[in-house]
Amino acid sequence: MPYHRRMSSFPHDSVRAIHWIGDGLRLLDQRRLPDETRFLSATSVDDVTGAIRDMTVRGAPAIGIAAAYGVVLAARARIAADERTWKQAIEEDLRGLEGARPTAINLRWAIGRMRGAIGRAEGIDAWRDLLAEARAIHEEDIAANRRMGELGAALLATPSNVLTHCNAGSLATGGYGTALGVIRCGYGRGAVRQVYADETRPWLQGSRLTAWELLQDRIPVRLIADGAASYAMQQGKVDWVIVGADRVAANGDVANKIGTYSLALSARHHGVGFMVVAPTSTIDLATARGDQIPIESRAPDEILALCSRRIAAGGADAWNPVFDVTPADLIDVLVTERGVARRPTPADVAALAAP
Ligand code: MRU
Repeated sequence: MPYHRRMSSFPHDSVRAIHWIGDGLRLLDQRRLPDETRFLSATSVDDVTGAIRDMTVRGAPAIGIAAAYGVVLAARARIAADERTWKQAIEEDLRGLEGARPTAINLRWAIGRMRGAIGRAEGIDAWRDLLAEARAIHEEDIAANRRMGELGAALLATPSNVLTHCNAGSLATGGYGTALGVIRCGYGRGAVRQVYADETRPWLQGSRLTAWELLQDRIPVRLIADGAASYAMQQGKVDWVIVGADRVAANGDVANKIGTYSLALSARHHGVGFMVVAPTSTIDLATARGDQIPIESRAPDEILALCSRRIAAGGADAWNPVFDVTPADLIDVLVTERGVARRPTPADVAALAAP
């Protein structure tokens, strides 16, 4: 299936990576971007768990949405196998999904919401009620991103130069994006002049995904090596660093793609604004502080090789933590769909997370 452009009434908003079509889930295979835009069919919960683990689908909200649809696939199969015991049997599938990646809290948040829907669902067609819940999670995420886009863009003095890290865009969410939602909205209003994107070694979410996504939507982007970010700030080229989040702890500490903490330190040193854009589904009040957030480590090969070619000296070892934690006091503004907190305190985080 070729890349599917879904028209949106919002400008600069054509990319969608997750589709429920007919009876099944289609995921844009992000491992192949930007060379190929190929969708994979996920027809079972194991397909979805595998797609999250191997990063066919990635980005905190997108992982949660894919998992919600994975629960639908699991329910359909479990109901067909035994209509009386499916609610017990599906627990094994939910645990498998929850364990696919550890850091993004949206995964557990979405499965928690689907557990509530499982509790309420009845009869042989119960999976259809779960599909309605998964669709609601998906649509609410896009609506939250659009709201955050407005709120974040309103904070930019016109015209601003912004730097973003990893991919916190349509590819990482249900659509529109968190950090890239602010950039989309700001660019449309003339509040964003220049977008810099870090390459984001080792998986290159910046050069492969963010650059592809912005160019699909006719937003010019200039790539820089991760190590060039501080120099760009020192040279006065950056007004705001704008990033997403994989988890916001109760005290406001933020886990995000490795390298985010360095950007926050550098931004504070150079007087550059540091904005975190995350829906309230990314807030985890059960985790008091950032140092309690589980940080995923991935295979050393992601460091030792580049595009499947070994680049490290033979015998070299590698350490590959893929997230880090930025302390709350380095965050100038936290943008959620429920509002904005400047220099967020635990009380601000609790108020934003309250339903
Ligand atoms: O390892 P990834 O690509 O799943 O990591 C994604 C990020 O760190 C994003 O910045 C984060 O999920 C925010 S996405 C809206």
